[in-house]
Amino acid sequence: MVLSSLFSVKTLPAVVLLAASFLANSANAQDRTTEQGEAQISDPNEECTIYYYAPVSNARYNFPTVWTVATLLSNDTAGQTKYSNISSGIPNISPKGTQPQSETGNFTGFTYSASDPDCWWTYDKCTTPKYSGLQPDIAGVPEPGTLGYGFDDGPNCSHNAFYDYLSQQNQKASMFYIGSNVMDWPLEAQRGLADGHEICVPDTQVLVTSLTNEQAFAELWYTIKLVVGVTPTCWRPPFGDVDDRIRWIANALGLRTVIWQYDSNDWKVGTNNITAADVDANYEALIQRMENGTFATSGTIMLTHELNNYTMSEAITFYPQLKAAFKYLVPVGVALNVSQPYVEPSPILPNFEQYISGTTTLSGSAPSATGSQGASSGSSASKSAAGESRLMNALAVDGAGGLVGAMMFVGGLLRTMM
Ligand SMILES: *[C@@H]1O[C@H](CO)[C@@H](O)[C@H](O)[C@H]1NC(C)=O
Ligand SMILES: *[C@@H]1O[C@H](CO)[C@@H](O)[C@H](O)[C@H]1NC(C)=O
Ligand SMILES: *[C@@H]1O[C@H](CO)[C@@H](O)[C@H](O)[C@H]1NC(C)=O
Ligand SMILES: *[C@@H]1O[C@H](CO)[C@@H](O)[C@H](O)[C@H]1NC(C)=O
Ligand SMILES: *[C@@H]1O[C@H](CO)[C@@H](O)[C@H](O)[C@H]1NC(C)=O
Ligand SMILES: *[C@@H]1O[C@H](CO)[C@@H](O)[C@H](O)[C@H]1NC(C)=O
Ligand SMILES: *[C@@H]1O[C@H](CO)[C@@H](O)[C@H](O)[C@H]1NC(C)=O
Ligand SMILES: *[C@@H]1O[C@H](CO)[C@@H](O)[C@H](O)[C@H]1NC(C)=O
Repeated sequence: MVLSSLFSVKTLPAVVLLAASFLANSANAQDRTTEQGEAQISDPNEECTIYYYAPVSNARYNFPTVWTVATLLSNDTAGQTKYSNISSGIPNISPKGTQPQSETGNFTGFTYSASDPDCWWTYDKCTTPKYSGLQPDIAGVPEPGTLGYGFDDGPNCSHNAFYDYLSQQNQKASMFYIGSNVMDWPLEAQRGLADGHEICVPDTQVLVTSLTNEQAFAELWYTIKLVVGVTPTCWRPPFGDVDDRIRWIANALGLRTVIWQYDSNDWKVGTNNITAADVDANYEALIQRMENGTFATSGTIMLTHELNNYTMSEAITFYPQLKAAFKYLVPVGVALNVSQPYVEPSPILPNFEQYISGTTTLSGSAPSATGSQGASSGSSASKSAAGESRLMNALAVDGAGGLVGAMMFVGGLLRTMM
């Protein structure tokens, strides 16, 4: 992964200058102030030229510095309140390993019981929590012959060719966006939502089980806030690194944990001896499994990325074969009939039956009222209520001039258009 940030306090003035000179020097350039204008750029170099987007840059100080472990800001009253409300319930499980090396997956010197008491995915791919009251991770999808289709690590600045292709195929996917990429490329993030994809979050690229309770909370809290004016209800732990403590915190923030059964390894090409031929073989093995009956009773999820030109090109290359082999390719939330993918009542996703009979687009209309208030604990409705109160808190921050306001503004633009 490329650990860069356009929005660290240090580099921001350069960003602004660059954007200003770009605008001054390119009278015939595409409109780089709207989602639609940005979506029409076809030259990847132009797509990846930094632009200035006031709502994001104006609000950057209300976020922790990106690409470092998040901390709960002392002046974030809503975050502080939420954290103190949930902190006493967090399972008493220690952070894994020793920071800072544990943040990048070096667990040298950390001893862990072979019985896997915390259902730590990194240890043995455990997805059924041992701590009571937590739902299993979504590693496959229940519908037979179905691929839960999705991409990690977007939005990538050069994604127009890929998103154009998906649009031409009338194909939607679950997009797991990285907060700093959303900040750097807000119009590209808006395109994901406008195109009807299901927007989910990972956090930044640290191993979350290595973090303290407060750090893990902050990672998820600020990432959810970043996304384009809607509040996602799904997340994918970076590198799959999750245990019952982190699942509990995610659940308290209204997030379903989505993992995978197969890894295309597209993100590793050029490292660890992984070659493009290996990735082809991983896609091909998935197709063989479909053909040999592995998914006859329930479908699956493979990890693939919107990381760069190669991973997106590979997705395009294999799309026709996946489409031919699998009965259905649908966003993960569609396979689960999650018709309300965001805390906000709109936009909504089609359910599985609607999607496979051809209604693949989001609807802007509010779903029929499902009790989201005062529900019993543990139900998805109560999760949504928790998310809702978090959103209200977020809006309170907005009153003080926070980035949530800016992101709501981004979403507001989008909703007007839809
Ligand atoms: C929080 O503090 C930072 C400086 O540390 C400031 O830039 C920002 O505006 C403050 N946010 C709020 C919501 O008061
Ligand atoms: C704190 O938790 C209680 C129940 O545990 C809930 O009713 C209340 O809304 C929560 N407050 C916030 C700010 O999340
Ligand atoms: C992992 O961390 C240990 C210190 O605990 C260090 O000695 C070792 O070099 C690290 N390994 C790698 C591969 O970075
Ligand atoms: C890459 O392959 C070489 C030769 O097979 C091997 O010596 C090396 O350990 C491998 N490296 C990794 C990171 O797997
Ligand atoms: C199905 O194909 C996969 C990938 O080639 C293989 O690993 C698996 O063993 C096969 N299963 C059956 C039941 O043939
Ligand atoms: C996005 O993709 C382009 C084209 O491959 C690549 O140059 C760029 O580094 C990627 N951006 C990020 C943030 O990974
Ligand atoms: C990959 O890069 C080439 C050359 O810039 C471009 O024509 C093509 O559209 C890109 N493909 C994707 C999927 O981004
Ligand atoms: C989704 O809804 C359809 C009916 O519309 C049902 O057949 C299917 O079992 C549901 N799937 C899940 C995971 O709830």
